[in-house]
Amino acid sequence: MRKALSSPVLWVEVIQGACPSSLRRFCTRYEREGRQAAWRGRYLQLSATRCYSIVPPAQDSAEKDMLDRMLRVDHAGEYGANRIYAGQMAVLGRTETGPIIQKMWDQEKAHLKVFNELMADNRVRPTILMPLWNLAGFALGAGSALLGKEGAMACTVAVEESISEHYNSQIRTLMEEDPDKYKELLQLIKKFRDEEMEHHDTGLEHDAELAPAYSLMKNVIQVGCKAAIYMSERI
Ligand SMILES: [Fe+2]
Ligand SMILES: [Fe+2]
Repeated sequence: MRKALSSPVLWVEVIQGACPSSLRRFCTRYEREGRQAAWRGRYLQLSATRCYSIVPPAQDSAEKDMLDRMLRVDHAGEYGANRIYAGQMAVLGRTETGPIIQKMWDQEKAHLKVFNELMADNRVRPTILMPLWNLAGFALGAGSALLGKEGAMACTVAVEESISEHYNSQIRTLMEEDPDKYKELLQLIKKFRDEEMEHHDTGLEHDAELAPAYSLMKNVIQVGCKAAIYMSERI
């Protein structure tokens, strides 16, 4: 199945008669965490290399600062997104919109897990504003959901558009710096950017634009997101 692994260390024998689609699902889940998996006949080949290897060692303090800032703000953003969806689920979890929000939240959980690992493995401290993003994220999620499904979706559109733009600007920076050196980091950020865009589109498909004062709400939330990004990069 697919490419050769860059650092195979683990071979797992597959039980005879194991369901192929379950194995494929397992591989997909494993890869979602920034590792690699391949199914080769009787064996599953799993890379033990975690995603931190995708951040190349910094050559000087300026590069280290740049990478630290990127990881810190991305971690904060994914954490905030998780809190927003948690707030939305607290209000709308038992409605028919619940599963739609849950699906997006599950992806945010996977994003956050990757950044948690990247932060730990690259010894980057989180922003000191985490307690604020905890409360503000949940309040934004719950508050928007109290306006109804449309409000929650408008919030999703606003936030996800901001996060996508933010990831795009990181992609531009890394491309200008050294696309080869940052190849794997770029792949990760592009993958996450695409998933944030899917969330954005999901919001639009589920009537975000019918939310009360949609444009105003979107603008206010996006100003907040920009401020949050600015602060999380710096403190
Ligand atoms: Fe995310
Ligand atoms: Fe998202």
